Amino acid sequence: MQIFLIGFMGSGKSTIGKVLADKLGYAFLDLDLEIEEYENRSIEQIFKEEGEAYFRKIESKVLKSLKKHESRVVSLGGGTPCYSDNMFTISKLGTAVYIQTSQAKLIQNLSKNLDKRPLLKGLNPIRLKTKIASMLRARSSYYNKANYKVRNNAEPEVIGERIRVKLDLESA
Ligand code: S3P
Repeated sequence: MQIFLIGFMGSGKSTIGKVLADKLGYAFLDLDLEIEEYENRSIEQIFKEEGEAYFRKIESKVLKSLKKHESRVVSLGGGTPCYSDNMFTISKLGTAVYIQTSQAKLIQNLSKNLDKRPLLKGLNPIRLKTKIASMLRARSSYYNKANYKVRNNAEPEVIGERIRVKLDLESA
């Protein structure tokens, strides 16, 4: 099975994805890293030099270039499911799991490293909260199209195990 982890920035998709891949003995792939490799520059640079519309075009292209895979976990960017026909592509290629994270936990996680996040960079705590709330409102309907949903209210190890059990997959 190819498993796509979706959810807001700062929900720990990559960390949980690695834990899950390890448990299952699956390969792991991070779409943001694939985009950086394809573009030969960082996500931050792509946003700064080309703007968001360009980033979304490349994001969709790199996603579409993925092959079906029997045993891989893929962590996607927070916006990936919400643009173009990406959710359709995801559903063709595998199974989507939404890592549902509370707003409070997102704020806590994101506040640590805002500078690396082009869409949130430079926001003061009040504006950050408002921005996250409005983005979550806009994005939830996409995230909720996932085949499965897990509440992100424990350590990555526990969440990885919950996903494994939910998907009825054997440990490696
Ligand atoms: C984005 C999330 C980021 C990255 C880009 C845009 C978004 O990925 O793809 O900065 O629109 O939510 P992470 O969710 O891995 O931080």
